[in-house]
Amino acid sequence: MNSIKSFFTLVLAILFTIVASSLNAQTYSKNGMVVSSNNSSSEVGAAILKKGGNAIDAAIATAFSLAVTHPSAGNIGGGGFIVFMNSEGKTTTIDFREKAPLAATNAMFLNKEGQLINGINHETAKAIGVPGTVAGLYLAHQKYGSLPWKDLIQPAVNQAKNGFAFNWSLFKAATHFTEEGNTNAFMDGYFRNEKGLIVQPGETWIQTELAETLTLIRDNGRDGFYKGKTAKKIAAFMKKNDGIITKKDLAKYEAIERKPIKGTYKGYDIYSMPPPSSGGVALIEMMNLMELADLKTMEFNSAEHLHVVAEAMRRAFADRAEHLGDPDFNLNMPLNKLISKEFAQQRFQEIDMNKASQSDSTQFGRLYDSENTTHLSTMDKDGNAVSMTYTLEYSYGSRLGSKELGFIFNNEMGDFNPQAGVTKSNGQIGTAPNLVEPEKRMLSSMTPTIVGKNGKPYLVIGSPGGRTIINTVFQTVLNVLEFEMPVDKAIEALKIHHQWLPDYIVYEKHLLSPDTRKVLEAKGHTLRERNNMGALMGITYDAEKKIFTGASDSAQPDSGAVGY
Ligand code: DON
Repeated sequence: MNSIKSFFTLVLAILFTIVASSLNAQTYSKNGMVVSSNNSSSEVGAAILKKGGNAIDAAIATAFSLAVTHPSAGNIGGGGFIVFMNSEGKTTTIDFREKAPLAATNAMFLNKEGQLINGINHETAKAIGVPGTVAGLYLAHQKYGSLPWKDLIQPAVNQAKNGFAFNWSLFKAATHFTEEGNTNAFMDGYFRNEKGLIVQPGETWIQTELAETLTLIRDNGRDGFYKGKTAKKIAAFMKKNDGIITKKDLAKYEAIERKPIKGTYKGYDIYSMPPPSSGGVALIEMMNLMELADLKTMEFNSAEHLHVVAEAMRRAFADRAEHLGDPDFNLNMPLNKLISKEFAQQRFQEIDMNKASQSDSTQFGRLYDSENTTHLSTMDKDGNAVSMTYTLEYSYGSRLGSKELGFIFNNEMGDFNPQAGVTKSNGQIGTAPNLVEPEKRMLSSMTPTIVGKNGKPYLVIGSPGGRTIINTVFQTVLNVLEFEMPVDKAIEALKIHHQWLPDYIVYEKHLLSPDTRKVLEAKGHTLRERNNMGALMGITYDAEKKIFTGASDSAQPDSGAVGY
């Protein structure tokens, strides 16, 4: 009997060793887990856990590393959110969303006739919001970190200074940004080696100037970014390029700790990001609606199931457009109402199971965002959990930066409603809560989420994807909690997206059979196919067996879950 037991122990030990780090597959571990968009950055985070760091330390180290290895979205020039739940279930969030500069105005993107100037809020230095990432990670460390700050930045400094193997995603971006028509002075030089040639796949990519900027942050904390040499160079860049961020904007930037948005679903507790993200509110509203839908009687991905999911999305996105913005500027947002079970009852009554509702184009709606943001999830041996999403907005943000700083600035000002009162069916939104104001944070869709079971972290999840973030996180949470899928299956399952306006369901290729499509069309839905949505990075934790399961989305081939 004993020998059988030791045989199984040996098999388990081998299993943990073999799968403790893997690309795009389910990974198990006993002492902690890091999942991110770049496997070598996940390894950086896991090494911090091994050193005795906690989930916050691992998230900080992974995030700085992603600023080197995954610069399309990993950043120090952007912003984002952390949801943190400790092993006892105590939960908080850190808001490090970018802010509008002091000189920003409500009409800054309009011409003399009051019309939106094409591209100005996405493709110029005026699109850059005051970056929040360094302040956010610094605040997280001060409040909840355990290892010295320097130890968390050093791996990123090493990756930038000594280089790492250039991957195919970077190479694809490099060829894109050096093609005629897609380039600017900064992006043209960004992916070139010291000989002036585009770095090739497998070649070591060294980012000397980024290493220098990261070293200043390593040695001076947040002041290494918001004051001194870095701030001076940022302000000089803005002046030269018609941007409006000043040294004063940088010095004034503060990350903020905020109370999470909390909801429940059939006995689970769901914690997510409050405004200035719309993610948490919309997620809880949709989960409440799903509690009222009799999902167990519906075949998974049947027309009936997808119809009720799409109708929930339509309503949550309409409410998002109408009510949400920066809470420091919108003191009376009806958050408690929107996430209440009573409101869900009322909203649920409006859903006709036989017929799609019509989104009213005279009221709300908004265009898709581009799709480059990045999510990371970490858990440590004690069961503390971090769910963090951060972004530059577009892939490679504003595509603007200075060679001497070595990093790219966000174009997050494009997340504000650009033109007061103008809401189009295509659909730009013009509602008041998210209009530009000095020092205001622009509304986000990022939805870093932690689900608690019996008062402890159970599922840690999030995704990039612009507005689709809310819906891919929603369906993944539903897949785990309602359909009892393991986290990798829940992530990989094909998904739909509806965002009120434009009024159609977007579905991932191969999701709909011809029959299902027909039934949905007969109910009045318009359908649009799309290759992929989101890139989810998730962890589940079995608190009884003390086993972590990590999984990263195969949509991101360089991503990885690393445990130990
Ligand atoms: O904060 C937001 O909602 C957007 N700026 C996120 C952009 C995004 O997710 C793009 N890509 N995946």
